[in-house]
Amino acid sequence: MFVLLLALLWPVSLAKVAVNDFFPFGVSNGDTVMIRSDDGSSPSIPISIGFPFFDYLHDSLWVNVNGAISFLTTISTFTPVCTPVQQNFRMIAPYWCDIDISRTGDIFYRESFDASVLGKATDEVSSAFPDSRHIRLRWAFIITWFNVTFFPDTFDQRPRNTFQAVLTTDGTQSFAIFYYNNMTWTTGQATSSGGNSSGLGGIPAKAGFDAGDGQTLFMIPGSCTSDIVTIGDRSNVGSPGKWLFRVDNSNVQSAGCSNNFTGNVRVSPSFVNAYGHVPIEITGPCVQAAENATCRFYDPSGNVTDAPAVIMGNQTSMKFGCSTPFFYTIGRLRLDLIISINDTQQQLFTGFLYITMPSDSDAGLQVSVQPSPNRTDYYRMTFNWNPADFAPLHAGYCAPAGIYLIRVRHRASHHVHELRKRLTLTAG
Ligand SMILES: *[C@@H]1O[C@H](CO)[C@@H](O)[C@H](O)[C@H]1NC(C)=O
Ligand SMILES: *[C@@H]1O[C@H](CO)[C@@H](O)[C@H](O)[C@H]1NC(C)=O
Ligand SMILES: *[C@@H]1O[C@H](CO)[C@@H](O)[C@H](O)[C@H]1NC(C)=O
Ligand SMILES: *[C@@H]1O[C@H](CO)[C@@H](O)[C@H](O)[C@H]1NC(C)=O
Ligand SMILES: *[C@@H]1O[C@H](CO)[C@@H](O)[C@H](O)[C@H]1NC(C)=O
Ligand SMILES: *[C@@H]1O[C@H](CO)[C@@H](O)[C@H](O)[C@H]1NC(C)=O
Ligand SMILES: *[C@@H]1O[C@H](CO)[C@@H](O)[C@H](O)[C@H]1NC(C)=O
Ligand SMILES: *[C@@H]1O[C@H](CO)[C@@H](O)[C@H](O)[C@H]1NC(C)=O
Ligand SMILES: *[C@@H]1O[C@H](CO)[C@@H](O)[C@H](O)[C@H]1NC(C)=O
Repeated sequence: MFVLLLALLWPVSLAKVAVNDFFPFGVSNGDTVMIRSDDGSSPSIPISIGFPFFDYLHDSLWVNVNGAISFLTTISTFTPVCTPVQQNFRMIAPYWCDIDISRTGDIFYRESFDASVLGKATDEVSSAFPDSRHIRLRWAFIITWFNVTFFPDTFDQRPRNTFQAVLTTDGTQSFAIFYYNNMTWTTGQATSSGGNSSGLGGIPAKAGFDAGDGQTLFMIPGSCTSDIVTIGDRSNVGSPGKWLFRVDNSNVQSAGCSNNFTGNVRVSPSFVNAYGHVPIEITGPCVQAAENATCRFYDPSGNVTDAPAVIMGNQTSMKFGCSTPFFYTIGRLRLDLIISINDTQQQLFTGFLYITMPSDSDAGLQVSVQPSPNRTDYYRMTFNWNPADFAPLHAGYCAPAGIYLIRVRHRASHHVHELRKRLTLTAG
């Protein structure tokens, strides 16, 4: 009975990012320690390279005790505002609520150009955002809220939260990485927040991004509700306690999939060669239950080709895999993802793909031309290839290979014949 009561009062979860898996932090790692206060902020911290956020390039930031990083000015507001804020600050809030470090708990921060920090950030970003898999991150800023409690910080034996935010950029794209460890409370005890002595109830914490223009707001699901305490059990990348977002423009992009997805789906790789048969992955929407899905490619020549899509992953990190068809023209093309929920209900999402002209010597195809043994005006062309030299075939969505003869150049006259003919295979 006693154990059960403790579990209710201290809802500590095991699904989370371990502190050992955080980006290295603390004084021994060169961090600055935040001065003890309730509702305080750091001095203005210069950013050595510009940090693009909500379409603006920022050259300074503030770390605020109350669980947020701000741009333009500090944040001392302790009860989170759950609608778009209009207070001239832009914010990145891993957990905006009434944190109090006047006696206990610590907040650490530092700017970093360290290769191992940038390497860890690159690993996170490139696996969460396949489009950015070749990114070279140049800057990171690490903020760690360690073992912090809520206002008023009067007793040692109070629920505590530990979480970390890392901002990183290559100068063009920028990302926020949030790691949550023990998350046990959501609300401070100030009257306007309305929390109780367990740090629950009232107006719970808000996690997300706000442009400070009274309009543009992105919240992590559960924000401002009691569910936010489970943020360390949930994820948008399939790994409990870990959340990644791309934040350089006003359309904050969540890694993984989202239930109310709007805008263009992300397609990776976004450049493919015209020969087709390239496995691509499409991300954006999550669907609760789908019968099947289809990729529809609008070749700029006017041809429309459907290819079946494989549905991969789960409710938090859903992806759709297709194999590209042969394209007749190069350039930008529209791609539709059509998801069939049932016989009468379909959802349609759109994205774009760029078709490039492959080089003639692509993929180790060997061609030999010999006079035909019985007709002097005919030639026999033989094609030899090693299937392993061609595009990697992802299990589950490899379409049957097609062999196309695109053009033939006559050796003597240099005349080029455009053929674009699908060949029929006669031998294995
Ligand atoms: C997290 O909670 C566990 C179990 O209560 C505890 O042993 C550990 O010290 C806590 N870690 C932090 C960083 O608060
Ligand atoms: C968290 O802070 C409380 C109060 O100072 C302390 O008793 C506890 O040992 C700390 N926990 C960790 C993991 O440092
Ligand atoms: C605090 O509020 C939460 C949620 O409303 C409730 O479950 C909990 O029992 C309350 N704790 C105390 C000590 O009142
Ligand atoms: C969802 O998929 C991810 C990635 O494959 C995996 O790590 C995670 O455990 C899955 N989550 C659930 C709830 O199945
Ligand atoms: C999705 O949108 C609907 C209506 O637009 C809203 O009621 C619902 O809460 C949204 N769901 C999520 C997860 O945001
Ligand atoms: C695709 O378009 C090309 C050029 O417009 C045309 O020659 C070809 O027949 C079309 N193929 C199909 C399968 O529609
Ligand atoms: C198809 O799915 C929609 C949305 O979930 C639902 O409203 C509708 O009743 C379903 N229709 C059939 C025939 O199952
Ligand atoms: C996909 O599912 C829909 C709805 O159940 C069905 O009508 C359609 O025939 C299915 N298509 C394929 C290719 O299985
Ligand atoms: C040419 O010779 C090949 C065998 O060398 C034979 O298979 C083919 O049918 C012949 N073609 C004609 C047009 O006689």
